[in-house]
Amino acid sequence: MKRINVITIDGPSASGKGALARGIADSFGFNLLDSGVLYRLFAFLYELSFTSDEIANQIKKHVEFIKSEDKLSIRYKKNDITTELRSEILAKLASEHSSKKEVRNALYDIQRNFYNGEGLVADGRDMGTVVFRDAKLKIFLTASSEERAKRRFLELQNRGQEVNMPALIADIEKRDLNDSSRELSPLLPAEDAHIIDSSEMSLEEVFSFTENLIKKEFI
Ligand code: C5P
Repeated sequence: MKRINVITIDGPSASGKGALARGIADSFGFNLLDSGVLYRLFAFLYELSFTSDEIANQIKKHVEFIKSEDKLSIRYKKNDITTELRSEILAKLASEHSSKKEVRNALYDIQRNFYNGEGLVADGRDMGTVVFRDAKLKIFLTASSEERAKRRFLELQNRGQEVNMPALIADIEKRDLNDSSRELSPLLPAEDAHIIDSSEMSLEEVFSFTENLIKKEFI
């Protein structure tokens, strides 16, 4: 199989995929695909009463992804909707929609189109198993549910959002179950993925482990 210049980072919610992907994109000058944002956008646009077919067009025509330093902002029709998209309500709705075939199909081409031949780092649940099966390097990043809930708690608190820890753990476990038990594109490591359990690792440690893998594959 011809391997393409893509690094996939899959794993459960709040495992640190996003921060790792943004760090790699910054350090190595790679483009970035946060595929979870597309599922969140799907839920957001569905709430505005668009159909599955219309949603793909709305995303192509009206959504902008703006990467600055280690942040990714999302605009819809010029309005910044990043905070709304990152809320737990949209995460929950996105997870519900993501088990449907028409939803996954509607987003497939959009995700593939993020690859233009140059380096791309793509994070999600099925980047290495479905969307970029031919990626050069695949990472599966995980951590215990308690550790992930702690990280998400801090992230939401920093953004000034109200959080309740027991509810957060319950939400994360429910989403894990939805994501790993669904029939289509379940959350699973690809056969050729490097599995990293970051429960006892700092982001810096995860980053330097991954950096070594990238240097072996890409440089
Ligand atoms: O990664 P994030 O938490 O933003 O993803 C939100 C939801 O979108 C996930 O819980 C999952 O159900 C869905 N998703 C997916 N496949 C992806 C990325 C996200 O099903 N590649």
